[in-house]
Amino acid sequence: MASNLFTSDRLTVEDKSTRLYKWMTDRPDSSSTELLQEVYDEQASYYDELLCDKMGWYGWKEGSEFFNGQLEKFGFSKGIRILDAGAGTGLVGKRLSELGYTNITALDISHKMLIQCKEEGCYKEFHQCDLNIDSLDAYNKAFDAVIAIGIFSKALVLPQGMKTLHNCVKKGGLVCISSRSKHFENFGHKAMTEEMVAKGFWKNIGRQDTDNYFTGQISGHYLTFQVQ
Ligand SMILES: C[S@@+](CC[C@H](N)C(=O)[O-])C[C@H]1O[C@@H](n2cnc3c(N)ncnc32)[C@H](O)[C@@H]1O
Repeated sequence: MASNLFTSDRLTVEDKSTRLYKWMTDRPDSSSTELLQEVYDEQASYYDELLCDKMGWYGWKEGSEFFNGQLEKFGFSKGIRILDAGAGTGLVGKRLSELGYTNITALDISHKMLIQCKEEGCYKEFHQCDLNIDSLDAYNKAFDAVIAIGIFSKALVLPQGMKTLHNCVKKGGLVCISSRSKHFENFGHKAMTEEMVAKGFWKNIGRQDTDNYFTGQISGHYLTFQVQ
């Protein structure tokens, strides 16, 4: 179980990086709320050092900048209400704030991740929930745009989480998601985006591919949809 990942106090950040990478590769197809909370609560205090410095995680930066370009293209102002779904330590919110956005809500399953977000000072509101369970009815059509970077993957947020995020966005608003290309195709997320296009829930309006998504060599992509 996940708690075996980091039990020893003597593990270096390199050891944790190796163990985490193995967990990310081998983990089951779905995870319980408790397991996800445990894994991400554990990582919250050293996520940036581990994921960015040691493991080469770039998605937050490329994704935020791609999202900004899409919002500007569609004429959204910097004051729009944005949901950062799976906000982690707040890397996306911080970059969006640097780009001028002022009304961002952080959502995450991990309480400790949300504490890190609070410390960044770039979010207005915070919401702790499991996107695989919570239907977010309180946020129905509440946001102008949603960004979800690095959450649609094996054993994190399941494909139906896209419908939940879609329901939070006003008609004409944007939803930006990212994924490792391999995971996107293998765990039903690609099929869900296509089903939602086919059913008229949203329209695919933008895509950016990258070879630099993770560890400087794993390919991924960013997609934007406009809610219909
Ligand atoms: C890989 S991190 C990405 C964090 C941030 N978006 C970034 O770009 O650095 C995934 C985040 O999603 C959160 N998460 C994972 N599964 C979730 C779920 N089912 N519901 C809500 N948040 C979830 C984790 O706690 C973690 O903070």
